[in-house]
Amino acid sequence: MSTFGVSLKKLVDDSYDIEIGFSLESHLVKDLKAGLVGNIKKFAIITDSHVEKLYAEKIVSLLEYAGFTVNTFVFPAGEKSKTRETKAFIEDEMIKKEYRRDCCIIAVGGGVVTDLAGFIAGTYGRGVPFINYATSLLAAADASVGGKTAVDTPIATNLIGLFNQPKKVYIDIATWQTLPKRELSSGMAETIKHACMADKDFFHYLKEHMADILAAEKTACEHIAEKNCQIKYHVVEKDERESGLREILNLGHTVGRAIETVSDYRLLHGEAVSIGLVAEVHLAERLGYATDEDIREVTSLLASAGLPVEIPEYIDREILVKKLYTDKKVKDGKLRFVVQRGIGEIVEFSSGVYATQIAEDVIRDIIEEL
Ligand SMILES: NC(=O)c1ccc[n+]([C@@H]2O[C@H](COP(=O)([O-])OP(=O)(O)OC[C@H]3O[C@@H](n4cnc5c(N)ncnc54)[C@H](O)[C@@H]3O)[C@@H](O)[C@H]2O)c1
Repeated sequence: MSTFGVSLKKLVDDSYDIEIGFSLESHLVKDLKAGLVGNIKKFAIITDSHVEKLYAEKIVSLLEYAGFTVNTFVFPAGEKSKTRETKAFIEDEMIKKEYRRDCCIIAVGGGVVTDLAGFIAGTYGRGVPFINYATSLLAAADASVGGKTAVDTPIATNLIGLFNQPKKVYIDIATWQTLPKRELSSGMAETIKHACMADKDFFHYLKEHMADILAAEKTACEHIAEKNCQIKYHVVEKDERESGLREILNLGHTVGRAIETVSDYRLLHGEAVSIGLVAEVHLAERLGYATDEDIREVTSLLASAGLPVEIPEYIDREILVKKLYTDKKVKDGKLRFVVQRGIGEIVEFSSGVYATQIAEDVIRDIIEEL
């Protein structure tokens, strides 16, 4: 018998740029020509059935004009496509089109596209580079930045995936002009979450500028895009793999993700997170970390963004409570929650610990009242 020690220490630099601006398609092509992903000449554009015509086609023609080989891989728009089956379908299509390891994936779309494409990039040929071209507010605020990629399963959202960082993220604010109102509102939930957990001034800015944001006014949109990146990156740079601090980005998501699944995706991600934020500010109040006034402020800001703040009638409360146990923060079979302190701060329960165990009865009470 022999034992071989395999020494594989890693020093990885996954740093990348996020460019925020208007109509960035030509910037993307210029960067690729300048070697953003080395000598790669073959690109797979992954997009959905709505975004294909709106934005992906333009990127394809610019890339072709620049002499690159490009194919588009399209799936039906919507959360229901974020599955292992869609992942396998796109991978098979890429194999048929002779994509090997010398390619780069470009995700053009919202959070469903960037989550799915980033996961495919992490496993295709054991890993190829990818770039996110974010076209929804939700992708800009959260999904396209931070390196979390995943698919949903019938039982839970986002449980199967990888940490995989893109080579660059483009946040094209001009694309928000074509976002349906409901989608723009949905994106505001993650933005309001950032304000609740980290920045009271930003919370007040959102209160004052909600009408401008919902009208996709340029300066307000640019400000929120920058603020979202700042707040998210302040966290991700310190804890990429969610071993402590990054859990704070889960504010509103413990209840939110469970509602999203139980609604069978009738609720959009941001809509479910909005209800989750309301439930969780109530939890903060019960634990003595927030006041009635904080509850009113958070609820009314979410409502002013056109977001739901109550659990719809059709959601079975008991099934919802059971669904909470599919949350990734559950430890030893116990529910754990991130808790806000007033507005603009998160409770640190002990050094580096940002989630605390909550008895099922406490959260059941809140769910029943909402
Ligand atoms: N990875 C992460 O860290 C992270 C964080 C938050 C959310 N997410 C995920 O993000 C997803 C939600 O993101 P989303 O709301 O962007 O979903 P999405 O990609 O489904 O986009 C929403 C809808 O808007 C359409 N759309 C996108 N851009 C458009 C545009 N510019 N004009 C017109 N229509 C456009 C899409 O076709 C889709 O119908 C969820 O799957 C959620 O789990 C991931």
